[in-house]
Amino acid sequence: MVRSFRVLKGKKVKLRDVHKDDLPICLKWLRDKRVTKYLDFDTLNINLKQEIRWLKNIHNSPNDYVFAIEKKDGKYIGNTGLHKINWRDKNCMLGIFIGELEHWDKGYGTDSIRTMLRYAVDKLKLHKINLHVYEYNLRAIRAYENCGFKREGLLKEGHYYNGRYWDVIVMGILDRDVKMIFD
Ligand SMILES: CC(C)(COP(=O)(O)OP(=O)(O)OC[C@H]1O[C@@H](n2cnc3c(N)ncnc32)[C@H](O)[C@@H]1OP(=O)(O)O)[C@@H](O)C(=O)NCCC(=O)NCCS
Repeated sequence: MVRSFRVLKGKKVKLRDVHKDDLPICLKWLRDKRVTKYLDFDTLNINLKQEIRWLKNIHNSPNDYVFAIEKKDGKYIGNTGLHKINWRDKNCMLGIFIGELEHWDKGYGTDSIRTMLRYAVDKLKLHKINLHVYEYNLRAIRAYENCGFKREGLLKEGHYYNGRYWDVIVMGILDRDVKMIFD
């Protein structure tokens, strides 16, 4: 699949390619425990060199599509991506984070997820979008359910955080459900 990046327009956000200039602010977010407690990758000790390498890998990967999330005023507020794209089975894993807490709960996440779903189904022709979310991440679960994701299963005690194990909720949405929601 030939990569052709574009700007994706949502109602409240614009999704665009991630640039090298974005990485210092991205790094700041990925060192914030209030954000990383919800993410499934350990980034607290990450440095700019590693971030630059990550971006290069992402740009060269046919199986990862990562976008920067911008508010309408042009402010960069987070990242979202389709990862581990399996072109044979036509599925992927969705990831998202909004880095500044002041931008949470304002609908930017929901709009970004919806925009990604349309892109995944309409443009990439994927059949299914999957994700994993920690049981204590009620905000994300709510946003995913608002976008049409359904709970499909549980990885019992699959995540260790704050002195105990937590369940990981497996969610997914099929292309026909995405189409039904948006058509
Ligand atoms: C998860 C995330 C992307 C959601 O984006 P957002 O812009 O904050 O979320 P939205 O405003 O679009 O939607 C949040 C929904 O959760 C609801 N919500 C907020 N706190 C909640 C809570 N404690 N319990 C239940 N629902 C809650 C909001 O009311 C809203 O639902 P509504 O639209 O029906 O009222 C964002 O908060 C984030 O990046 N969090 C940190 C990283 C993360 O969790 N990433 C996902 C990993 S799986």
